[in-house]
Amino acid sequence: MSISILAQNLHGSEIIKIAAEVNELKKQGQTIANLTIGDFDSNIYPIPEGFKQRIVEAYADNQTNYPPADGVLATRQSVSEFIKNKFNLSYPPNQVLITGGSRPLIYSIFMALVDPGDKVVFPIPSWNNNHYCDLTRAQSVLVETRPENNFMPTADDLRPHIKGATLLALCSPLNPTGTMFTKKDLEEICDLVIEENKTRKPGEKPLYIMYDQIYSQLTFGKHQHYNPVSLRPELKDFVIFVDGGSKCFAATGVRVGWGFGPAHVIEPMKAIIGHMGAWAPKAEQVAMAAYLKQEAEVNMYLQALKTNIQSSLTALYQGFQQLKAEGFAVDAIEPMGAIYLTVKVDYVGKTTPEGKVLKNAADINFYLIKEAKVALVPFAAFGADGSVNWFRASVGASTLQEIEEIAPRIKEALIRLK
Ligand SMILES: Cc1ncc(COP(=O)(O)O)c(C=O)c1O
Repeated sequence: MSISILAQNLHGSEIIKIAAEVNELKKQGQTIANLTIGDFDSNIYPIPEGFKQRIVEAYADNQTNYPPADGVLATRQSVSEFIKNKFNLSYPPNQVLITGGSRPLIYSIFMALVDPGDKVVFPIPSWNNNHYCDLTRAQSVLVETRPENNFMPTADDLRPHIKGATLLALCSPLNPTGTMFTKKDLEEICDLVIEENKTRKPGEKPLYIMYDQIYSQLTFGKHQHYNPVSLRPELKDFVIFVDGGSKCFAATGVRVGWGFGPAHVIEPMKAIIGHMGAWAPKAEQVAMAAYLKQEAEVNMYLQALKTNIQSSLTALYQGFQQLKAEGFAVDAIEPMGAIYLTVKVDYVGKTTPEGKVLKNAADINFYLIKEAKVALVPFAAFGADGSVNWFRASVGASTLQEIEEIAPRIKEALIRLK
């Protein structure tokens, strides 16, 4: 009553509901492996020491007044050099925007491009696009993906949906799956967007791509990160990148995000960010500017973080593969990037020792929380149907040892199902 229609229609986070259940059991003294949150335990994964010191120095240097609306110039310069070094992408500092973590970038991309009723196309499962559609009153177009393609969208999946759309929201490595685009799949999607834009009339809005690559520094083994602009430079005016330090520096609470793209989109985004006041804290920006320049230090940190995250993901993956080999109805997709593993627990219709029938993924999840002391997030929290028995497992808040103990506990819990 007496609040906006938008506020009435907002959806809460599914993950928070699961977290509430986990916290309740923790209060009762139980130890639960919490694989729900897309975050790091900062005692297991602290931010880089050199970054931390520079933040402290920036405060000591009284870097505490308003930063410029688009970010401190030195930070935009450092980011511009960083993306040149890492991806060979050329964006001058005036096409870079520094924000309070990367979420404000996503919101401002939607605000800058999408009018109420515009079509925004995104794959399912994916993270939070539905909420940004709600906030901008966009028409969301959900495109289902398949485990056979690692839950990444293909051009064929997207083709029937992009006619007349304003925004295609892509992410790789993908939250929630930890999987990535192959070069060929991303190239074909780029070509689809190029073709669609050729059909637009002068003055009509083109189809833009929001390319969220916040996990691009966390990729494993042979899996290589690709981006639309390097693959198809002619898309440069149509791609806005979402990136930042939250995941690659395990710095989710530090709140320094960066985005880059064509000036005609970055400029209005800057105004929107300014009105929201969603800047990154100035001292953190100053520290990030100095830290990003320390190439050897940054690479050493990234290497160590990647090695540890990969070990945890691989241990969990192997645990699930072992259960599968023993005949349990579970599966897992090889980890490629980010901090997530995609796992399947296919036990709908089975009965618990208390006589309760597991009706959907949420029931399976709550059974595992209680009986195996492990909490996952069903793909339903990322837009999939409740009948989809795939889950996200996030390893950032657990030690390797904790991860290694999970599969045996799941096994015991599954054995008890009839
Ligand atoms: C794909 C993706 N993009 C963006 C974000 C937001 O990151 P930040 O904490 O920098 O706002 C997240 C956080 O979980 C994410 O998973």
